[in-house]
Amino acid sequence: MKRFRELVVQGIPSQLPPPAIYDYEISHAPRRKDILTREEKVLALKNALRYFHKQHHKELSAEFAKELESYGRIYMYRFRPEYRITARSIEDFPHKSRQAAAIMLMLSNNLDYAVAQHPHELITYGGNGAVFQNWAQYLLTMQYLSQMTDEQTLVLYSGHPMGLFPSHKEAPRLVVTNGMVIPNYSSQDHWEKFNAMGVSQYGQMTAGSFMYIGPQGIVHGTTITLLNAARMKNKGSEEIRGKIFVSSGLGGMSGAQAKAAVIAGVVGIVAEINPKAVSKRHEQGWVDEVYTDCDLLIERALKASAAREAVSLAYQGNVVDLWERLADRDIRVDLGSDQTSLHNPFAGGYYPVGFSLEESNRMMAQEPERFKQEVYNTLRRHVAAINRLTAQGMYFFDYGNAFLLEASRAGADILKDDGRFRYPSYVQDIMGPFFFDYGFGPYRWVCTSSLTEDLAVTDSLAIEVQEEILRRAPVEIQPQLKDNIHWIREAAANNLVVGSQARILYADAEGRTKIALAMNKAIREGRISAPIVLGRDHHDVSGTDSPFRETSNIYDGSSFTADMAIQNVIGDSFRGATWVSIHNGGGVGWGEVINGGFGMVIDGSEEADRRIKAMLHWDVNNGIARRSWARNEGAIFAIKREMERTPLLKVTLPNIADDDLVESCF
Ligand SMILES: NC(=O)c1ccc[n+]([C@@H]2O[C@H](COP(=O)([O-])OP(=O)(O)OC[C@H]3O[C@@H](n4cnc5c(N)ncnc54)[C@H](O)[C@@H]3O)[C@@H](O)[C@H]2O)c1
Repeated sequence: MKRFRELVVQGIPSQLPPPAIYDYEISHAPRRKDILTREEKVLALKNALRYFHKQHHKELSAEFAKELESYGRIYMYRFRPEYRITARSIEDFPHKSRQAAAIMLMLSNNLDYAVAQHPHELITYGGNGAVFQNWAQYLLTMQYLSQMTDEQTLVLYSGHPMGLFPSHKEAPRLVVTNGMVIPNYSSQDHWEKFNAMGVSQYGQMTAGSFMYIGPQGIVHGTTITLLNAARMKNKGSEEIRGKIFVSSGLGGMSGAQAKAAVIAGVVGIVAEINPKAVSKRHEQGWVDEVYTDCDLLIERALKASAAREAVSLAYQGNVVDLWERLADRDIRVDLGSDQTSLHNPFAGGYYPVGFSLEESNRMMAQEPERFKQEVYNTLRRHVAAINRLTAQGMYFFDYGNAFLLEASRAGADILKDDGRFRYPSYVQDIMGPFFFDYGFGPYRWVCTSSLTEDLAVTDSLAIEVQEEILRRAPVEIQPQLKDNIHWIREAAANNLVVGSQARILYADAEGRTKIALAMNKAIREGRISAPIVLGRDHHDVSGTDSPFRETSNIYDGSSFTADMAIQNVIGDSFRGATWVSIHNGGGVGWGEVINGGFGMVIDGSEEADRRIKAMLHWDVNNGIARRSWARNEGAIFAIKREMERTPLLKVTLPNIADDDLVESCF
């Protein structure tokens, strides 16, 4: 422990550590596109050397140039610390500010081997969701956090710690921006270029804002999505056992699909091309059985469906081979989706059919144009097979990975005559109208003691609070509350914690606030032994403007604006957040979304009570107000109800014009 603390406080070492040995055992980010001109490579190298004393430049410049050549990025591998990066107890992190120590805990969790997708490249999930761009940024940030007081704010520009600036106790301790660029410079290749030069990064959503809590976060969201999709397909009936759900991806987030299918009680079939990802989920117990033969897998799925058995089956191979086989054999599939990383289609997010993983990775780096054509060809086949199955009654939905968008760019048969997509996104049909419009979103908390006992106390407090709310809840939100109570009752038994002691729960503003106040009281009374970090996924009611995902059920033409996300982060920052973040490009891709989040450390104080009430209220109701202004029925209901409860809240409500009247004018 002493050594760990010394190393954190030391920051970038003045003596060079030995060069790193490339570890072939762990999952590495794919080699990135060789996109820089010679002049830009010179710039990238000069940029990297800024972190180090001139005496080391000779040795490091040759090494960094080689990294740029070999991997397309300068990760500064040799500076990866020797200690294990993990969510230790808050007191283990050297600190002058407990809030800063909590931030260290959270960012360490994002880089933990057990949690991160490519830990050596500082990537948490989604293939390119970065915590930092390089190890110098990590070391410097940890050092700053260990030094800072509650009168300072740390400023991070895409992973780069610009420094500690004087502020005040009420201010956020940390402000994070990731991938913020001038709007006209926001294509996929701009990201490749700026990231290779070391001046910007793709923070995804919770990767670059230190709020990732492992796949648990997405298991909950996926479970409620699947439950509601199956109920919808079943015309409202609760009896969904025996339904077959097919999708792909067993990666960072997508890995949750297999587990969620079993919790929801259906037969889940998930294709995954990367054997390492398959075995990780299999060993973890989230995938029950693995198949490399489509026909054997199909037989097993049909048997399970007939016996109404809940089971998760992985197909190790390309998802298009699976879809085509299912379509050729006319198999009844009830629900279909996709969770390959199509937000990142040409840099390892989506693998073309007909090639091994290794062949694809080679082609990606050496023949990027051919790779792109193969991806497009695969997407066209992918959609063609899905179209055959939906014609037989399958309900297919886009799962927030830019599947529809990229398929349309590939020229796949994915558009209706009126130019709209053939299929809905899960936000349009499910998450938007049932959850976001009513203020329900992926709230979460992390126990900084890192003790399971503390998490158990928070679980029981959350159940009590939700049950109390359910007793007086209007019918419109009773199903959501019931699913959430069921979830949190089962959560501990389902062993979902990977990394920090965290819990996720889809809650509305009332639920989020009351649970936080109950936890704060328990900290005050010593029933919980250390502070708690509150936060949420960016995939929420108010934090994210994303026309192909979070705001895809906004139909007043404003879905391509980003005022809500920007207002949200500004509003959070002066209402009590401990840190705030705003990112370009999470989930559906660079340039396609602006998303933000927050973290709030609660320590049992009355001050924390005040922050909870002020900030969580805004953080949810901002989005409900906007969704209501967009004429979304659930949101109009929810914001009117909130105004009755909160006299100081006055929201502009829409008047609904008569469709025939408006139509007749043109
Ligand atoms: N719906 C949501 O709530 C939600 C939440 C988070 C992420 N997402 C989106 O889902 C996508 C996946 O996220 P992730 O974190 O799991 O990414 P990931 O990169 O960790 O996992 C994707 C997996 O798909 C596999 N894959 C790629 N092409 C394939 C193919 N043709 N056949 C079979 N397998 C293939 C990859 O090997 C990889 O393991 C991202 O686009 C992300 O933005 C959606």
